Amino acid sequence: MENNKLMTNNTYYITTPIYYVNDKPHLGHAYTSVACDAIARYMRLDGMEVKFLTGTDEHGQKVEKSAKAAGVPPQAFVDEVSEHFREMGQILHLTNDDFIRTTQPRHIKAAQEMWKRLEASGDIYLANYGGWYATRDEAFYAESELIDGKAPTGAEVEWVEEPSYFFKLSKYEQPLLDFYSANPDFILPESRRNEVLSFVKGGLKDLSISRTTFEWGIPVPGDEAHIMYVWLDALTNYWTAADGKWPADLHMVGKDILRFHAVYWPAFLMSAKLELPKRVFAHGWWTIEGEKMSKSLGNVVAPAHLVEKYGLDQTRYFLLREVPFGSDGNFSRQSMFDRINADLANNIGNLAQRTLSMIAKNCDGAVPVLDPAVTLPQDVALMDLVRVTSATTHNSAREQMQRCKFAEVIGAILHMSSTANEYIDKEAPWTLKKTDLARMNAVLYYLAESIRCIAIMLQPFTPDAAAKLLDQLAVPADERLFLHLTPQFALKAGTPLPKPEGVFPRLVAETV
Ligand code: MSP
Repeated sequence: MENNKLMTNNTYYITTPIYYVNDKPHLGHAYTSVACDAIARYMRLDGMEVKFLTGTDEHGQKVEKSAKAAGVPPQAFVDEVSEHFREMGQILHLTNDDFIRTTQPRHIKAAQEMWKRLEASGDIYLANYGGWYATRDEAFYAESELIDGKAPTGAEVEWVEEPSYFFKLSKYEQPLLDFYSANPDFILPESRRNEVLSFVKGGLKDLSISRTTFEWGIPVPGDEAHIMYVWLDALTNYWTAADGKWPADLHMVGKDILRFHAVYWPAFLMSAKLELPKRVFAHGWWTIEGEKMSKSLGNVVAPAHLVEKYGLDQTRYFLLREVPFGSDGNFSRQSMFDRINADLANNIGNLAQRTLSMIAKNCDGAVPVLDPAVTLPQDVALMDLVRVTSATTHNSAREQMQRCKFAEVIGAILHMSSTANEYIDKEAPWTLKKTDLARMNAVLYYLAESIRCIAIMLQPFTPDAAAKLLDQLAVPADERLFLHLTPQFALKAGTPLPKPEGVFPRLVAETV
């Protein structure tokens, strides 16, 4: 069997954070979602049965305040804003299998069930809460954490004093530390893991998990004067929508919300006697032209705007390639322009354009005939590289994708493309056309077969352009998985090809 995974654990469950509906989608949301989408597509191409979940986080004080400010009842408000996130998914061509909203009955039921499970474990007690709360972060802060009277994130805090149910988080300090050490790859990247470890080692206090001073939330079972703390409600979404696929293989989150996912969530799950997710990956943050993205600075980048200006594949590619995933990155028009032209237009696009237009003009618009008698060592070298890189994709790059090493995987694809470009320059099929037709055909065949493999591997990252390339090579729709990278599925001489068109146009300065 080519793929062992098909016989063992064949499902892969991946989640984005669910987005707050107090705001319209921006670059940060698009980033998390596109990263998950690339992994989801990758795993499907690798023969896995994928569940990819995204959605919206609709309860809590922040949303209640935004609805009030808009003069709309909260339900009408969340209905509208949630729709913007669904649209973002369409604009980015996300392949999520489900879209959860925390106001849905299925979720309210699951969140209350989660509460009862924590209660059944003896981990919930009623007391009084007095402390600082930052609505923007929907988080409690200890006095000692405040910096100049604000939350460490810069959010405004207010003093909150009310009866509250508490979760015995302190009880899970040691079990969490044991879990992290038994599962060293649970939190990635490693630098973030160390941060979480030192936070937990610093001591965990019990967590306030209900509020009484506002209404927009899920009622606490058995005590409706309280509503559930929005993070307990929100985190439970992953379980609500699991559809028998629990535990999740990967929760993708931004670094700002790692603590909720790597500390609170596993503790809740331990208490609820449910399996823990396999991995939490915390990615970095984007600044915009060197500045923090914020409404007050007026520099918020809308995903739809990028897609319109640069193209969808180009936008997805830039986000995943520009910075090593996990690090912070800076978005600038110049870097986007340079990256798209260098990697997509001048490298992959140019290779495809040169090869396919020569084939259209000189090979009767069909896959060229390969005469093995004229094969030279440089052809074998190119094919070896393509096959080895493809095989790596099939094996070790799977692990790289699970660890979110996008830049590495993309780098390997680019290397194939650069090598093929060097090959076309050296072999110069435009010259062979006049001197040696059999060699010209062979060279064009090897180039076309390289493009086939490059396009198959590009699918998770630039899905539309990859599909166009595969269409132009007349690769059947059911022969585009990673298992089809092998020579057995190589292009067949004489297959008629459609008229080629460019897939990655070069950007010109005036247009951006
Ligand atoms: N609702 C919570 C998540 C609950 S999950 C159970 C939330 N929502 S959010 O809409 O504020 O943020 C969602 C994601 O966007 C987070 O992962 C966050 O890191 C990410 N980003 C927000 N701004 C960002 C950048 N400037 N750059 C990169 N990602 C950023 O938090």
